[in-house]
Amino acid sequence: MTSQRLLRGRLLSFTRRPENITDTESYSYEHDGGLLIEGGRIAAIGPFDTIKANADANVVVTDHRPHLIMPGLIDAHLHFPQMQVVGSYAANLLEWLNTYTFVEEQRFADAEHAARIAVSFFDEMIRHGTTTAVAYCSVHKTSADAYFAEAEKRNMRMLGGKVMMDRNAPGPLTDTPQSSYDDTKAVIESWHGKGRSHVVISPRFAITSSPEQMEMARALAEEFPELHIQTHLSENTAEIEQACALYPEAANYTDIYARYGLLRENTLLGHAIHLSEGERDVLSETGAVAVHCPTSNLFLGSGLFAFKDYEAREKPVRIAVSTDIGGGSSYSMLKTMDEAYKVQQLRGKRLNPLDSFYYMTLGNAEALGLENVIGTLDPGSDADVVVLNAHATPAMTLRLETISNLSEELFLLQTLGDDRAIAETYIAGNPAKSLL
Ligand code: GUN
Ligand code: ZN
Repeated sequence: MTSQRLLRGRLLSFTRRPENITDTESYSYEHDGGLLIEGGRIAAIGPFDTIKANADANVVVTDHRPHLIMPGLIDAHLHFPQMQVVGSYAANLLEWLNTYTFVEEQRFADAEHAARIAVSFFDEMIRHGTTTAVAYCSVHKTSADAYFAEAEKRNMRMLGGKVMMDRNAPGPLTDTPQSSYDDTKAVIESWHGKGRSHVVISPRFAITSSPEQMEMARALAEEFPELHIQTHLSENTAEIEQACALYPEAANYTDIYARYGLLRENTLLGHAIHLSEGERDVLSETGAVAVHCPTSNLFLGSGLFAFKDYEAREKPVRIAVSTDIGGGSSYSMLKTMDEAYKVQQLRGKRLNPLDSFYYMTLGNAEALGLENVIGTLDPGSDADVVVLNAHATPAMTLRLETISNLSEELFLLQTLGDDRAIAETYIAGNPAKSLL
C-alpha cells in the first residue's frame, strides 16, 4: 500500500479565468482544507476534518496553517543556459544577445558545466515555487541531456528543447539544418515521456534559423504533432526589421512562422509584443500562445505587452506568463506578475490579483494544454503544490494588519513576495524546498 500524505491549510485552486476582481466563482477556496496525496497525485480535497476522517489511519499530516496551499507555479518561458547572464548591462535585445548571451551559452558544449548549472537551475525553480517550466537549452545536445537528466532526478514535470540555430551567431553556437534535426530527434527519443519530461521543438527565432533550418523545424513539427513548439516573436523593433528582411516573402514576422507550419495550439511564442491586428488574428485562429515576459520586456526596454487587449478581442489571443530568465530579472513568478501588473498600469489597463494567480497556475497549464495534469488541486492531478506565506517578511506582516480579504492577500503576495514567501514546494507529493 502506498503511503498517504495530508496537507492542512487554506486551499486555493482556480476553476476558470476570473472575469473581474469580484469573480469569486472562478476559484474554489477551503479555509480549513485538507489535500490528500497518494502515489504522487492528489487523491482528495475538501474540509480537513472530512478528508482526515476518510484517510488511512497512518496518514502523515503536515499542518501549513495559516498559509495558502495552491497548485505549483508554472513558468512558460525561460532559458536554462542564461543563469549567469541575468543582470547584464545592455541597451536592447540584439546588443544583449550578441554581447553576453551568445558568449555565455557557448559554455554549455561542456557536459560538466551544463550538469553543474542544471543543479542550480532546478534548485532555483523549487526555491521559487515553480514546479513546471518550459526552458530553452543551448544549441548543444549536451545541454538538453543535462537539463532532462536533472528533471528526471527531481521527478519534475519539465518541458524543454535543444535550441535550433544555424546562422547570425558565433560558430560554436550554431548547428546545421541536418544536425539540428538529428539532435532534436535524438533528444526526443532519449527524453520525451521519460519520467515527467516533455521535449519541445525549439527554433530560437527567425534571425538565427535559415530557411533550410525552418524546413527542418517544419518536418519535426509534422512528425511530432503532440510536441510543443517554442520560438520568439516580435520582441524588439530592430529584431522585427531584421527578421522581415531575412524572409522578404513573408507578409510580417508572424507570417514567417506560419509559412513553415509552426503555428498551432501547442506553439509558445515568447514576447509577441509588437503585433498588428492581422497578426493577432492569426495567433487567435491558430491557437498559438503569446507568452508574456514582463521583467524581461522592462529590463531590455522591449515594449509593453497588450495583455488586456489580447484577452478582450473578438478573436482573443491565448496568453501565458513567464520569467524569461536571463533576459528577465527574477526567477519569481510572484515578482513576474508584479511587473505584469505595472506593464498594464502603463497601458492604462488593470491586471487584477485573481488574474495573476490564475495565470501562474491554471492559466499557464491551459496554455500548455496540460490542465488535466497540473495547474489545479483537482483529484487525479499531479501533486505539484506550493505553500504561500503572506507573513514572510516583517513588512508583509505589517501590511497584512490592514488586509481583509483573499484578493488583497494575493495582491500583497505578488507585490512584496518573492522566494521568501514560498514556505514549501511539493514535487509529486514530496516536500522539496525544505530539503534544499
Ligand atoms: N530572442 C532570441 N533569443 C532570445 C533570448 O535568449 N532571450 C530573449 N529575451 N529574446 C530572444
Ligand atoms: Zn526567451
